[in-house]
Amino acid sequence: MQRLRNNDKCWCGSGAKFKRCHGDVRRLQRDPVELGSVSAERPVPEHITRPDYVAVGSVTTPTGLQIHDDESLERMRAACRVAAEVLLRTGAAVDVGVTTDELDAVAHDTYIELGAYPSTLHYGGARDYPKSICTSVNGVVCHGIPDSRPLRSGDIVNVDVTAFVEGMHGDTSATFCVGEVDEPTRGLVETTREATLRGIAAVSPGEPLRRIAEAIEPFAASRGYGVVKEYGGHGIGATFHATPHINHCITRGDTMPFEVGMTFTVEPMLTTGSGGYRQAADGWTEHVVDSMPTAQFEHTVLVTPEGREILTVTEDGRTAAGTLDELQLPA
Ligand code: MF3
Ligand code: CO
Ligand code: CO
Repeated sequence: MQRLRNNDKCWCGSGAKFKRCHGDVRRLQRDPVELGSVSAERPVPEHITRPDYVAVGSVTTPTGLQIHDDESLERMRAACRVAAEVLLRTGAAVDVGVTTDELDAVAHDTYIELGAYPSTLHYGGARDYPKSICTSVNGVVCHGIPDSRPLRSGDIVNVDVTAFVEGMHGDTSATFCVGEVDEPTRGLVETTREATLRGIAAVSPGEPLRRIAEAIEPFAASRGYGVVKEYGGHGIGATFHATPHINHCITRGDTMPFEVGMTFTVEPMLTTGSGGYRQAADGWTEHVVDSMPTAQFEHTVLVTPEGREILTVTEDGRTAAGTLDELQLPA
């Protein structure tokens, strides 16, 4: 994939070299994100139904393709609406001086108010995830754990929300700007938002899964950004992470066709630097090695006979990345 180079003209049309415009490393680079302390567990009231990995301790729901009938689709829509609402309310709380733990509190209370369980809380990996959202600041690629670090002017933060309600998971994320964010970093965020929508727009029944990556990776490269290879989207429904794995980087073998009724996520992570990353000692947080900013957006998507539908939208058509009208998927 030919990535826009430093001495090429910037993608924005300014006429300046990329390295003096949206590719300006001196403006993009941040201090490495230091880890703060993680607060005590937030309780979930008894009446909220837990997913199996919390209640039983293991995933018992089928991990194959998540294909819906009318009845399960209604429940899936409900879970996705809740996730969208939690993301909007949590995003509205992003501000200079607010800690990511305070964002977790806003999200946690909203899930509960809406009758949902925060899917990430006690989600298993090598270690149980301890919080109700992921908050990934600047050069944290994904899975940042909310903690005591206050957001600073110039930061960007991805808030990733997954709600479990009516037996279904809905998963959505957006990257928010904190205070005054420089133009090169805004360009990364806006490009990642558009890349996600382009990937979604490429979904159509009968077409191979590869279409998503074909829409995302060359677009990101034309703007000088990389796309994280190892983390992809995933089937989602009664199971949080199910098949298929959705690659955001072009993979020849991705020939499985989209099927009407399938639900999965599209959630590309775009990088401004070399793209290499390492996991922190907490067993979750993935930091880029060069502490250059990264951004991510995510939606849960349904394959329809006509094409696709974004499910992680509020009742009145809003998302953290604009209203459904404004989301006009690129052709
Ligand atoms: N919401 C993330 C995703 O998009 C998964 C987070 S799992 C956690 O798939 F345990 F790290 F929270
Ligand atoms: Co996801
Ligand atoms: Co997510």
